[in-house]
Amino acid sequence: METQRLASDPPGIARAAEILSAGGLVAFATETVYGLGADARDGGAVARVYAAKGRPSFNPLIVHVADLEMAQRYGVFNQQSLALARQFWPGPLSIVVPLAPHHGLSSLVTAGLDTVALRVPAHSGARALLAQFDGPIAAPSANPSGRISPTTPEHVMAGLQGKIDAVLDGGTCTVGLESTIIGGAPLALLRQGGVPEEEIVEITGPLAQAGTDITAPGQLASHYAPRATLRLNAKGAQKGEIMLGFGPGPCDLNLSPAGDLTQAAANLFAHLHALDAINKPIAVAPIPDTGLGAAINDRLERAAAPR
Ligand code: TXA
Ligand code: MG
Repeated sequence: METQRLASDPPGIARAAEILSAGGLVAFATETVYGLGADARDGGAVARVYAAKGRPSFNPLIVHVADLEMAQRYGVFNQQSLALARQFWPGPLSIVVPLAPHHGLSSLVTAGLDTVALRVPAHSGARALLAQFDGPIAAPSANPSGRISPTTPEHVMAGLQGKIDAVLDGGTCTVGLESTIIGGAPLALLRQGGVPEEEIVEITGPLAQAGTDITAPGQLASHYAPRATLRLNAKGAQKGEIMLGFGPGPCDLNLSPAGDLTQAAANLFAHLHALDAINKPIAVAPIPDTGLGAAINDRLERAAAPR
């Protein structure tokens, strides 16, 4: 298969929507990372997503929708989930809610669970695609399973070229970390991400501890992994290592010379991809664990985990 690269202009968006309607796979930019999209109602298309990524099929996918009204066709929102949707959508928050009656989603999307993760992305290209396609788009991050998430069309091509129909070029993702996932009753944080926990708690009050029964690849110990090993909280590079810095100080690549967590989040995966290409052991400077720093450290810990 040849993977087409489409521009985010009206003809490119129209072509991307056509491919989705025909059961094909289109990678597209969101504000968090690139997603690998398929029609969430089409079991064959969703199966091809799992195959292209080499993803274990027990892991459910996030369903992307145009707005809250469309989300309510697929999921049942209570007062708390409604408040979260109203506050953070469109944006980097996925909300897990019970499936609505007659939802019409493929059971592969939910991996047989009776809940669904829904998200309204903020990226203009993703919104244009959702408007044109006029249906739910299931999209995991557009990387081979277990590897570093993509934040540019080049990352997508490097991992999935020849395995998917098209990449809709939406430039570089601005948030750079996957969405925060929240769900369950009582409500729990299922994955750290683009909306810091502190901002969610302002709406919901204190959150429950996530149960251990939820299988989420973002929850697998080894994930987001470059080929080389990572050493975290490093004061400096040891012999043979390359240094990923944060804040002032000597390093080979810096997540944010000014020590800004938003900038570091946006750079994280692109820098890991760049260091991965060098394929030497990587030392990573300490990152504060507040705000977006918690999600950055979560990704780094998983990238560093033994595989
Ligand atoms: O920012 C993002 O969330 C990106 C972009 C493309 O939207 N997508 C993304 O998808 O990160 P993925 O497949 O890499 O991660 C989806 C996570 C997984 O950890 C999955 O297990 C969890 O969402 N998930 C999906 N449905 C769920 C459900 N019903 N209950 C609990 N977790 C769920
Ligand atoms: Mg992923």
